Amino acid sequence: MKVSNRLNNINGDGDDGWGLFYRSRKMIADGVKVTELTIGEHDIRTDRSILDAMHASAVGGHTGYAMIPGTDALRDAVADRIQTRTGVPTTRDNVMITPGGQSALYATHLAALDAGDTALFIDPHYATYPGTVRGVGGIPVALKASPDNDFQPQIDELAAAAADPRAKSLLINTPNNPTGVVYSRETLNGIAQVCKDHDLWLISDEVYDTQVWDGEHISPRTLPDMAERTMVVGSMSKSHAMTGSRVGWVCAPADMITHLINLATNTNYGVPGFIQDAALFALNAGDALEAQVAAPFERRRALTLQALEGQNVVRAVPAQGAMYVMLDIRATGKSSWDFANALLDEKHIAVMPGESFGSAAAGHIRVAMTIDDDAYVDAINRLVAFAKACIT
Ligand SMILES: Cc1ncc(COP(=O)(O)O)c(C=O)c1O
Repeated sequence: MKVSNRLNNINGDGDDGWGLFYRSRKMIADGVKVTELTIGEHDIRTDRSILDAMHASAVGGHTGYAMIPGTDALRDAVADRIQTRTGVPTTRDNVMITPGGQSALYATHLAALDAGDTALFIDPHYATYPGTVRGVGGIPVALKASPDNDFQPQIDELAAAAADPRAKSLLINTPNNPTGVVYSRETLNGIAQVCKDHDLWLISDEVYDTQVWDGEHISPRTLPDMAERTMVVGSMSKSHAMTGSRVGWVCAPADMITHLINLATNTNYGVPGFIQDAALFALNAGDALEAQVAAPFERRRALTLQALEGQNVVRAVPAQGAMYVMLDIRATGKSSWDFANALLDEKHIAVMPGESFGSAAAGHIRVAMTIDDDAYVDAINRLVAFAKACIT
């Protein structure tokens, strides 16, 4: 039977980097001791207190169909979190609960684009962005943020791409996966101006908003006249180590939320009630729990910088947030694919090739800081020794 062109083409024709990830998983299954630094998954599990709340909710009967936009209590809690942190007036009417941030990315692009419209996003980018755009029938257009500009997007290039009348949306991600870079106020002001000048929706992926080590996270929804054209994607995955619970949200103008609820009614039909109750419990636990989940990554970032001292073959990209560190390995003369594959084969350390996130990250690798401190420092030391050996 024929499969639709849209699904057939969802992955485009490039290698998305998961090849290396699956190879490392296969080695592990075959009994090889691989140090796994590929995926954005914490080395802790969801806090026991959140699981207890989930269990109590399920046993208490919240196992039927749940409210499709989200329970009132959870929508209120998300709205409150956003208003408290940004100062932008936000109510439950601005919030729809989704099965994770990925589903929110899909819904917001479906809401912004008609078939054949173009969706702008920044390279390097989270692996699913181009497929998400293709999946809704849009045309992905990646705009490079280069290492020469500390991976901050260049506003004149954005403006030129936005001038294409087919361009309908711009997707940004700060704090950024894979680079760890947090966009400056100047960058965000420029982005906001481009969106206003060219009447674009701004889709702001803020799933790493609790992981900022230097400076501040600025949500572009706070910038003048941006609340009416910004859809914020949020998630409990990274902030509360709830990746498997699949719970996140969209925050958008109320009339857009009405449309997104129609979409949810005809697609996922909401998020399980006991998961929503667990998310509510987790949000009510406040900043302390978020800080506890984020702390290992800040600590390991400092450990990375320490381990890299005294050599200049491997350099950390100056970054301010997220659970990854991007390493510049251009001095080895190897491509990021060759470096990552050889590192896996010879040293049994699995990292993501930079180019799996787009061509702007050529000559870089992404390291997820997601194993315990001692094993992590040992892996970075071995990685540096391997890089040095590449040039001798
Ligand atoms: C930048 C970014 N956005 C969105 C997601 C999706 O997260 P989830 O669907 O688990 O909320 C991820 C996951 O790694 C991510 O890195």
